[in-house]
Amino acid sequence: MTFPHRHLLGIEALRPDEITTLLDLADQYVTLNRLPDKHADALVGLTQINMFFENSTRTQASFEIAGKRLGADVMNMAMQASSVKKGETLIDTALTLNAMHPDLLVVRHPHSGAVDLLAQKVNCAVLNAGDGRHEHPTQALLDALTIRRAKGRLHRLSVAICGDIAHSRVARSNILLLGKMENRLRLIGPPTLMPAGIAEFGVEVFDDMQEGLKDVDVVMMLRLQKERMDGGFIPSEREYYHRYGLDEDKLRSAKPDAIVMHPGPMNRGVEIDGTLADDINRSVIQDQVEMGVAVRMAAMDLLAQNLRLTRGAA
Ligand code: NCD
Repeated sequence: MTFPHRHLLGIEALRPDEITTLLDLADQYVTLNRLPDKHADALVGLTQINMFFENSTRTQASFEIAGKRLGADVMNMAMQASSVKKGETLIDTALTLNAMHPDLLVVRHPHSGAVDLLAQKVNCAVLNAGDGRHEHPTQALLDALTIRRAKGRLHRLSVAICGDIAHSRVARSNILLLGKMENRLRLIGPPTLMPAGIAEFGVEVFDDMQEGLKDVDVVMMLRLQKERMDGGFIPSEREYYHRYGLDEDKLRSAKPDAIVMHPGPMNRGVEIDGTLADDINRSVIQDQVEMGVAVRMAAMDLLAQNLRLTRGAA
């Protein structure tokens, strides 16, 4: 088994060679996705249920497209209209769905750890589509694929992750993944948005953009996660943009061929200049979205292979 996991709950559990296996398979799906006929059969006969307890555009759409391209029967639970509104617990909802024999459950939830808990209660493969401020593994994997294709490698790069690190599961999964692949990591942001004890992760911390961006290969911007803030973390959006928003001027500190990334959704004029975000010579933001579909196809393909093996052995 090249990818010996029942679930994809986080980057933390993955080994570097397993990350490479998944990205190699995703590269093949990028090729498929550019053909007129985008169908493959890795998930034929399987049922995929998407449960999103938090808003999502890119992640939910790409998991749905990924499942459909691989032949799964895909159902999107409308969580706003579900019995969750009537007070049903997450576990009861999961057990109800489990009784319908899904094979793949894709879950996004506002509470860190909720997806891990759910995975212990069901018989199918669970994919974490973002849990609180904990992990967002497919985002880190699609970011890794984007970097690998743009830079030709995924090691010994200098990567800056900028902005609201403290509330970001994207940052956490990326720090874990890029660290495992032996890259140099710099975190840039106001001290109020840096998680406590972050230095233990072997990263360098800056609160000045120009200084932090010096000679980096990759600049990854993050959204201000206001929905996870319960007080005054920043003076004002204007002041924040002035100090931490990425624009042409600040980007000059990075290497001349540095790429600009953002997981979306973007707040133009808050964390990034809109013109820079749209500049296809610097920004790979649309590539990230494209890689998202391929990475999710690869992740579900690998988990489905394991499902079939374990069921065959049972
Ligand atoms: C991110 C998320 O939901 O964690 N979005 C995404 O999945 N592309 C980042 C964010 O919400 O800012």
